[in-house]
Amino acid sequence: MSVILSLHNLTNLAHFVTAVVAATVLSGCAGRPSSPPSAATPPTLKEAFSGAFRIGAALNPGEFDERDTVAWPLIPRQFNTISPENVLKWDYVEPRPGAFDFTVSDRYVAFGERHGMMVIGHTLVWHSQTPRWVFDGVDGKPATRDTLLARMRAHINGVVGRYKGRIRGWDVVNEALNNDGTLRQSPWLRIIGEDYIAKAFQYAHEADPSAELYYNDYDLDSASKRHGAVRLVKSLLAQGIPVAGVGLQGHYKLSWPSTAEIDSTIRAFSDLGVKVAITELDVDVLPSWRNQPTDVGRSAELQRTLDPYRAGLPDSLERALARRYADIFDVYMRHRAAIDRVTFWGVTDRASWLNNYPMRGRTNYPLLFDRAGKPKPAFDAVLDVARRPSIIP
Ligand code: XIL
Repeated sequence: MSVILSLHNLTNLAHFVTAVVAATVLSGCAGRPSSPPSAATPPTLKEAFSGAFRIGAALNPGEFDERDTVAWPLIPRQFNTISPENVLKWDYVEPRPGAFDFTVSDRYVAFGERHGMMVIGHTLVWHSQTPRWVFDGVDGKPATRDTLLARMRAHINGVVGRYKGRIRGWDVVNEALNNDGTLRQSPWLRIIGEDYIAKAFQYAHEADPSAELYYNDYDLDSASKRHGAVRLVKSLLAQGIPVAGVGLQGHYKLSWPSTAEIDSTIRAFSDLGVKVAITELDVDVLPSWRNQPTDVGRSAELQRTLDPYRAGLPDSLERALARRYADIFDVYMRHRAAIDRVTFWGVTDRASWLNNYPMRGRTNYPLLFDRAGKPKPAFDAVLDVARRPSIIP
């Protein structure tokens, strides 16, 4: 009996040591260690999904400068890849022609390196958060094709070149498509023409041949837009453009898109042989704004209707959010062979962009950590999925 007991204890000890060693390795060896693992430490997202894909978060300066003491300690513990929410966008890094300012983005990259995380760059060519001068020519006319191409190349070369070998993957072109799958009439398209996308990838590849280059967009779950993106990626690949993958933003609602649509979207891109990354995951729980009158900001009653959970999310919705996240991660797990990373667009509900979009000053609950940095029921639901055996269909 005593022999059996001590054998049993030994086995437990061996398991414990293995778990601690594994947790230490998984928590990233470079830089400052995360909090010491112990038998009582609950599993974390990055550990739970380590056999499937990386788990990431988009960060703001308060987080990577380690000033947001609620959010930042969660980051190295829970995540093994990071994206910059805003600090690598054009208006941040090149606000005036040729005047690059990398003070803040350098700190973002250094944070990722310090904690041994995969660092992502977002984004090089987009119609939004791009200064006006980029598209301006002389005498109030738009820039010429050659001028805009030269500016694009200089920008990409400056930014990608700065972080060569340090930023692993770039969202090269963001949101180039309309919902019907045609190309968006952005200044990029109007001034340069359809080949602006291929050019952007070429310039990024020149600046860092080892970086993974992504096309990134939202609502690719709706069939018409998805078909447009598939056509676009196929045509780029046929021209020999090094597109490594597609970024599915994943800005979802509680009941949109369906899991069948999410499934079809991932399958459509993995069938092309490119990597799939979920790049900006969150689940908006607030009533939709688009169908309401535009003077909503002036109506207290409409404000109450459109911002109903200021005092807290009702339990029923908290549970609905947890179920929704479980369903989403169930699809991701089935496609784990195709998915490279799943990145949330933020860490805690407090800093989510969805508190201010599409309407300012609301109280939204789209992420896995609450305003105090506490894991929500949705966090547990997601971890449960990691423990479930899923089959790749
Ligand atoms: C958002 C940021 O979260 C906000 O802070 C900013 O004010 C606007 O942009 N798709 C993207 C992201 O690709 O860059 C956007 O980020 C969210 C939608």
